[in-house]
Amino acid sequence: MLILGIDTSCDDTAASVVEDGVRVLSNVVSSQNELHKKYGGIVPELASRRHIEMIVPVVDEAMSKAGVDFSDISAIAVCHGPGLIGSLLVGVCFAKSLSYTKKIPMVAVNHLEGHISSIFLEESAPDFPFLALVVSGGHTSIYRVDGYGTYTELGRTRDDAAGEAFDKVAKLLGFGYPGGPVMDKIASQGDPEAIHFPQAKLSGSLDFSFSGLKTAVLNYTKKIPDSKKEDVAASFQKAVIEDLVNKTLDAAQQEGIKRVTLSGGVSANSALRRRIKEKAAEKGIEVYLPSIQLSTDNGAMIASAGFQHFKKGKLADFSLNPKPYLPLGSADR
Ligand code: KG4
Ligand code: ZN
Repeated sequence: MLILGIDTSCDDTAASVVEDGVRVLSNVVSSQNELHKKYGGIVPELASRRHIEMIVPVVDEAMSKAGVDFSDISAIAVCHGPGLIGSLLVGVCFAKSLSYTKKIPMVAVNHLEGHISSIFLEESAPDFPFLALVVSGGHTSIYRVDGYGTYTELGRTRDDAAGEAFDKVAKLLGFGYPGGPVMDKIASQGDPEAIHFPQAKLSGSLDFSFSGLKTAVLNYTKKIPDSKKEDVAASFQKAVIEDLVNKTLDAAQQEGIKRVTLSGGVSANSALRRRIKEKAAEKGIEVYLPSIQLSTDNGAMIASAGFQHFKKGKLADFSLNPKPYLPLGSADR
């Protein structure tokens, strides 16, 4: 069964054709990095306009790369939130039009459920239950996943998302936008032990807080303007990673679960991938990571999650509206 997945939640226009929720036939992502670079961050109005320009060519390319026709598609899965309203609107309106004109059923997918589902596109996927750390530019949460569509949030960030912290620190170090991938590279040339940046202590909780860390980096660079940027990047990155890894593994132990997954843009970070594998192995916990390509936003993860909704008959109708705020596990899906 073929599902066409569409994601326009933020600054990437993405479409993909996936077979049976697990096999990626095509995965096309049109990045807007160049467009937003000169502003040092995403400009929502520009993002929305670029999605309008790109949605047709991106979907066309996904269909032709998969070598399929609309008559082969069983359902269109579209991300309807959370995300930027003007961006989400483009994907949702496009999916509705396509569904109407081609008479293909439509399913609505939560972006975070999409990120968690990216792991099912890999050769080795975890059995249920597992713990999922979703760590992206807009979100940082730990979920207990007991089955498709069954999520319990165990912890979340109380302020900035980890990706947002990467982006803001990259900006203040003068590395430009988007910050995560550059920080990853620069940090690998620095000493993570050079500077001790404090981690937020939220005792007894699996919540995160990254805004204090960002301020600590800012204060440090003001105090020592000629500090080695590679060391600042590496030390900042280490503080974020230690917190993400420790809380995720603590959550696994607390729940008595031996399997954890990472997903979302920050899970592409090479040091994070290394560290979680290392520490999990010490505790006898298995780690499942999506490929780098499927860590950041893509349509395949939406198609994978959408396949499960479609199998359960959870179709969306034309009253579907995008929702900028859409907690995972809420009834309104
Ligand atoms: O999942 P994603 O593509 O979009 C959202 O749903 O937010 O995540 C984007 C975030 C950005 O903040 C970006 O800087 C971060 O993921 N990111 C990284 C890396 N690659 C992307 N952060 C750290 N290291 C990376 N290699
Ligand atoms: Zn995302």
